[in-house]
Amino acid sequence: MPWREKLIIALDVSEPDYALELVDKFGEQIEIYKVGLELFTSAGPRIVEKIHKRKKKVFLDLKLHDIPATVIKAAVAATRLGVYMFNVHASGGLDMMKMCRDSVIELCLKENLPKPKILGVTVLTSISQDVLKAEMGIQHSLITHVRHLSALALKAGLDGVVASGHEVAKIKSHCGNKFLIVTPGIRPSWHPPDDQHRTMTPKQALREGADYIVMGRSILNHSDPLRAIELISLEMLTA
Ligand code: C5P
Repeated sequence: MPWREKLIIALDVSEPDYALELVDKFGEQIEIYKVGLELFTSAGPRIVEKIHKRKKKVFLDLKLHDIPATVIKAAVAATRLGVYMFNVHASGGLDMMKMCRDSVIELCLKENLPKPKILGVTVLTSISQDVLKAEMGIQHSLITHVRHLSALALKAGLDGVVASGHEVAKIKSHCGNKFLIVTPGIRPSWHPPDDQHRTMTPKQALREGADYIVMGRSILNHSDPLRAIELISLEMLTA
């Protein structure tokens, strides 16, 4: 896959006009945009339609986490919006993930819609081993927990997971190479980690086997975002 199809830009802004300005500015360079909580709650589903009008794909990152009936309804709405991928929290449980997948497949067959990729969020890249244990009460290691949630997402029939670069190799060996891994928490050498804890450079993450990398602040906050993309693409090409 060319680097362009592997780099997802997180449109973590609240102004829809600014988000679209960025999409227009990046032009041919970027194929997939992530619409997350900030942009979706301030701009609504129309922003997804506007990005689609520009012939770009959308990863709807709402990290759905609720009872199965509620998640299913949101998943159906995301599928009708035509997003390329969306995610649910794997810790929402096997039934929730399985019912979500089955409802999406049923809808796609019934209405002849393209099936979005459904991903399970494992452990957020902002969570450290200490926080997992002390605050979330999970006693086994972070990697064991990520592997457990990934196996659950696989069992539920999801297409893949969202996980940090540090867990990619273990997940691939446990769940198989076709199980997709989308990796946020990516930091090029010039950018600080911010609130992220389990970070990796774009090159490292791709070498570990990530299928897609997600990058937000290190591109959007760069004094010249196009130059940042160019530097990242050069790094990705050497991975
Ligand atoms: O700015 P930065 O590159 O850290 O952005 C990472 C993006 O990936 C954010 O939009 C964040 O919501 C998202 N994300 C994450 N960790 C996850 C899942 C999604 O950082 N596990």
